[in-house]
Amino acid sequence: MSNTPAAEAARRRTFAIISHPDAGKTTLTENLLLAGGAIRAAGQVRARGENRRTRSDWMKIERERGISVSASVMTFDHDGLMFNLLDTPGHEDFSEDTYRTLTAADAAVMVLDAAKGIEPQTLKLFEVCRLRDIPIVTFINKMDREAEDPFALLDEIASKLALDPAPLYWPAGSGNRFKGMVDLRNETFIPYNRNREEGHPAPVPLQSNAILSHLDADELEEAQEGAMLVQEASRPFDPQAFLEGHMTPVIFGSALRKFGVDELLSVLAAFAPPPREVEAERGGAETQVSPGDTEVSGFVFKVQANMDPNHRDRIAFFRLTSGRFQRGMKLKSQGTGKQMSVNAPIMFFASDRELAEEAYAGDVIGIPNHGVLRVGDSLSESGALRFAGLPNFAPEILRRVRVKDPLKAKHLKRALEGLAEEGVTQLFRPTLGSDFIVGAVGQLQFEVMADRLAGEYQLDVIFETAPYAEARWLGGTDAAIETFASTHRTAMATDIDQSPVFLAKSAWEISYVAERYPDVSFQYTRERG
Ligand code: G4P
Repeated sequence: MSNTPAAEAARRRTFAIISHPDAGKTTLTENLLLAGGAIRAAGQVRARGENRRTRSDWMKIERERGISVSASVMTFDHDGLMFNLLDTPGHEDFSEDTYRTLTAADAAVMVLDAAKGIEPQTLKLFEVCRLRDIPIVTFINKMDREAEDPFALLDEIASKLALDPAPLYWPAGSGNRFKGMVDLRNETFIPYNRNREEGHPAPVPLQSNAILSHLDADELEEAQEGAMLVQEASRPFDPQAFLEGHMTPVIFGSALRKFGVDELLSVLAAFAPPPREVEAERGGAETQVSPGDTEVSGFVFKVQANMDPNHRDRIAFFRLTSGRFQRGMKLKSQGTGKQMSVNAPIMFFASDRELAEEAYAGDVIGIPNHGVLRVGDSLSESGALRFAGLPNFAPEILRRVRVKDPLKAKHLKRALEGLAEEGVTQLFRPTLGSDFIVGAVGQLQFEVMADRLAGEYQLDVIFETAPYAEARWLGGTDAAIETFASTHRTAMATDIDQSPVFLAKSAWEISYVAERYPDVSFQYTRERG
């Protein structure tokens, strides 16, 4: 007997890990899956990381895309809760999908390298979390190496992210002198054993003699002093402020040495939120969709081309927002009104895929289709529900695209529009001239695009350096935008939805024009309707 949709949703914890490359996301993922009982042996996720780094030719990309299909979400049952860990690819395969995945997460774990603090990619991903007020748990990793002063790390979180850090643990030393951490909530000490095969000793009360077998008197004094100071200096952990995205609980650890990972899992179990109510539109009127609603609904946040380039098969990643999904169910797309029977939905258990018989709010299922489903599509039984569009993010790489055979220019336009609709890359049409400018946040997006243009549209394309470095969507009254546009014609363009875009030569130019045109906003993101 299954529970009600509300009860099932209440035990879902859907989260993603955000970090800068090399901070330890793969290692932490693997050890979280181990701690959660999802995988038995180490090495399953690791291998993927290595594969990723050796990517060079198209075959490898295909293989890699295949691999990341099966690992885009990993589900594990732990302590009566169902965790869905969403993959946010980094490195070369960083793309808009990475950002969009965060719109399907209810919480995020931010992994920081203890020696480096907040790095650029962490910051970017954090900003996306902030857009949606996604609660964030901070895991300060690599404490087994020489680390920055933990107070400085907390300061950095507060000043760079404007996020209130609330340490739940306090480390004793780092690197060779790392001895473990004080559990600030219940006055115990969690000892660290450098020899990971032996595992870590059980926690001991702070006020006991037993503690001196794990650190010497000086180290103990230092740890206690630090713990006292940090508690005086920081606000106590407030679960409500965390849920609202203002405060982050902080855990210290070493993913590699499996230290702090159980603590992270229990913090997630205790505080990460289950799926929430979502705003939507039904027949033009605003409504709230609750995880316990009977109608099955959700949205597609990512579409992945299948392994075989000769087939147009795609897997659409569908995040449920309400109801009890059952295999074979018919769902209707709000935009196109098309109905489809979902007969072969896929659920992902670590490295295995299984057919999903049932799924609830918070779950992600893969729906195989032939290109019918697109990023941002809202699906529901009635077809009447529409969820807010997924945001577009200002691209970081802009390229002019040309087709080698000039007779195929018309085809190119259609193909580029198709790929932009799907969310593979963004497309900008400058107001003057006949160029197509494509934009992406990661290099791999161009490779994927070139391959798909060749494979599916028989178009051989060349990417050239564009005279622009940045793109921003314009906001403001029509009159204000027109005033700006009329004096910047050569830098104006429209996106796939005909929204006005300013193409700038540098970030500096954007701040320059922003100052001179205070009535116009230069937006980094745009919600697609
Ligand atoms: P990423 O997914 O965020 O890019 O990071 P990943 O887990 O691949 O880790 C990057 C490097 O940092 C790896 O070393 C990994 O072993 C190491 N690492 C991760 N967590 C810890 C930790 O807690 N302590 C220490 N000391 N190292 C850690 P590598 O040399 O690049 O790879 P490998 O040779 O270990 O496979």
